[in-house]
Amino acid sequence: MGINFRKETFRDDFTFRNSPEQVKRFPFPYHEDAYMYSVNIEPHVAGPKNSVFEHLIDVDEHYVSEMQDRAMVLAEDPLRCQSLPHMTLAGWDLLELLMTEMANGYPEHFELTRDGDRWRWINRPLGIDDTFTFGDVSTLPYGPMEYITRQSQGDFAILDQRDGNLWMDAGMITTQADWSLDFDIGMNFFEWHAPVPLAHEMGVFTRALKFLTNIQQGQPARRLNWTMTINPRLDTSPENFHKWGSDRLSVTPENVGQKVHLRVELQTFFRLPRSNALVFPIRCYLLKMDELVSVAKWGRRFHRVLRDLPDELAEYKGLTRYRQTVVEWLSKYDDGAPTSPGF
Ligand code: HEM
Repeated sequence: MGINFRKETFRDDFTFRNSPEQVKRFPFPYHEDAYMYSVNIEPHVAGPKNSVFEHLIDVDEHYVSEMQDRAMVLAEDPLRCQSLPHMTLAGWDLLELLMTEMANGYPEHFELTRDGDRWRWINRPLGIDDTFTFGDVSTLPYGPMEYITRQSQGDFAILDQRDGNLWMDAGMITTQADWSLDFDIGMNFFEWHAPVPLAHEMGVFTRALKFLTNIQQGQPARRLNWTMTINPRLDTSPENFHKWGSDRLSVTPENVGQKVHLRVELQTFFRLPRSNALVFPIRCYLLKMDELVSVAKWGRRFHRVLRDLPDELAEYKGLTRYRQTVVEWLSKYDDGAPTSPGF
């Protein structure tokens, strides 16, 4: 059975919500009742059916609406998509990866046929049927990275690897948690991570970079990261801070359940075959507090994580203004029972 794509918005009237099936597959990111940064990287292998790990590239009920939101962001601000001249080959690599994985994982929605360099791509949910020559930019309406990431959920950073470091030399970034591609383009791993508190001193980034530069083709890796967002807004960029920054002041005990969202990023890392670049897809999942507490063990655990989160992390993630209101609201769902590790 195919996916039932929802018609919804991530701005203005914010009609986004999750179906009960989508709530069940939400990648709840905490393994214990407390959270601190760590090098939480594991192999990205296919996981259980109906989980976000079932396929290496996850497509879900929000796909069509997310692609419409991306198109709106790009129409207002084309600099959310940038590729330095030496990254075109990596763009083709990415196009191949995404088309192959989407067609394999969701054959009822996507189809790829190859006849040598002549490729035909059918994307039924978006009504696209294009034939093009792989490697020939003039046969696509956009560059290869832009073409395929306008049709793929999540943000994408493509990192060039040289001098033992990773360089953010291309990306499609429209659903980010308050960072800017236009600001970070051309930076290396330590430079773009400079604003993150505590993790540098803990050695997290030195170890993570060592791991990432050794990733081999066919052996992708993944990690989860999280923050919170007021209203189900995908585009919480610095460029548009004037549109969403003040939302943080609007949280009251009455509206927490609908307005406050846990925002989880499934971050994956794939080595690309021709360019040797690394691609970093960042898939964003939103969950309303009302949806979160519908799973009792999540409500209990998230209450404890948020209550005890180190202040530096809360400040960096931008939670300070509404954290206490949310902790008090969540406390109703924490009966003090012990939780088991994992889940
Ligand atoms: C935050 C990019 C891999 C740990 C960030 C930020 C960016 C970023 C742009 C926001 C920085 C800001 O405030 O401006 C990337 C890219 C990666 C990558 C492109 C892939 C090459 C990793 C890895 C780890 C990591 C492997 C750790 C194992 C973190 C942490 C934060 C962060 C802890 C702070 C997040 C938060 O508290 O919400 N990353 N990152 N990153 N990154 Fe990465």
